[in-house]
Amino acid sequence: MQMNDSIERVLITEEEIQTAVRRMADDISRDYEGKNLVLLGILKGSVVFMGDLMKRLSIPVQIDFMKVSSYGSGTTSKGLVDIILDIRRKDLGNCDILIIEDIIDSGKTLSYLAKYLKEKGARSVRTCTMLDKPSRREVEFQPDYSGFEIPDEFVIGYGLDYDEKFRALPFVGILKREIYEK
Ligand code: IMP
Ligand code: MG
Repeated sequence: MQMNDSIERVLITEEEIQTAVRRMADDISRDYEGKNLVLLGILKGSVVFMGDLMKRLSIPVQIDFMKVSSYGSGTTSKGLVDIILDIRRKDLGNCDILIIEDIIDSGKTLSYLAKYLKEKGARSVRTCTMLDKPSRREVEFQPDYSGFEIPDEFVIGYGLDYDEKFRALPFVGILKREIYEK
């Protein structure tokens, strides 16, 4: 299967992504000056975005990861959040956690995780997403930092997968319907 045969069209170019990453990094660097910033990447979708974002920060930063279940192998949400890999830090009470996500869809993953980390004792918890599909919300949720609002299309690339494929593409593309509707 050829990669380009699977993509309907490019939705966000590499240049547009990098401009948004720089804008978010500037905002975060300003807002977290003097704090103890910990970027908490949600595996696996956030790794490309987080790698780019952290390089653009002008303040000290630590990184950590959690893994939660979301879509399984298809394109429909299960609606349950299962923690597969938890954060383990003894200094959580001194951490200003910024959760890094690839995309917000129903809002369930991030609203659950933000609440979970506050209850676990983090000093502060905010959220940052590359992509946001506001029309798909099932629970009320607003990210603190967001790259792009996008329409209700299934997208891949820049960390996002369909069936574990396409994560390494440097742009965000719309997946052809025939790929997931067959
Ligand atoms: P939420 O809990 O419904 O907000 O789900 C967020 C998660 O669903 C993301 O971290 C992605 O793993 C996955 N997801 C949602 N929309 C897409 C998409 O268009 N392409 C790929 N993954 C998606
Ligand atoms: Mg996924």
